[in-house]
Amino acid sequence: MDSKKILAKNIVLIGFMGTGKTVVGQLLSKRLNWNFVDTDDLIEKKVQLTIPEIFRKYGEQYFRDLESIVIKEIMQNSNQVIATGGGIVLRKENMKFMKENGVVICLLASPKVIFERTRSKTPIRPLIDLTNSEEERLQKIYSLLNFRSPYYAQADYMIHTDNLTLEEIVTKIICTIKIC
Ligand code: S3P
Repeated sequence: MDSKKILAKNIVLIGFMGTGKTVVGQLLSKRLNWNFVDTDDLIEKKVQLTIPEIFRKYGEQYFRDLESIVIKEIMQNSNQVIATGGGIVLRKENMKFMKENGVVICLLASPKVIFERTRSKTPIRPLIDLTNSEEERLQKIYSLLNFRSPYYAQADYMIHTDNLTLEEIVTKIICTIKIC
């Protein structure tokens, strides 16, 4: 398996909030000895504001503009594992850049698993307001997932993560891109 080449310039992880893009990306980058890049981190560094502050002060569209700028910059480089924000798929141009310069892998999880994972107070996710009731949050997850599913389906590969450990997800990705 190790003799096989990775047939990609970059690996881009997309998927809904709470599907594990960051933790999976960090471990995957270690395994491959590639750089790890997180679009949300770069956005925060760029404007010296946290994601919730950007949403609060300037609104979601401004955040989306920053996201588009940052992903274009990142995709100029190679040998990177890139964890993206859950909404990056919403702009056609983002998907185009990601697919042209890398292999795009979508991590999937069921709404209940997403609900459990997004209960945590960090990172703060402006689109899932923890001051709302559990029912309202679950409803929000269902409606966003429903709307975004066709966008996530544009990935090169989709991986269901509900019944896999972190190690298994990473192995599966490596196998997929090395065509094991
Ligand atoms: C968002 C997901 C977040 C972050 C922002 C918006 C979304 O990232 O980019 O809060 O629109 O789904 P994670 O997917 O890493 O939580």
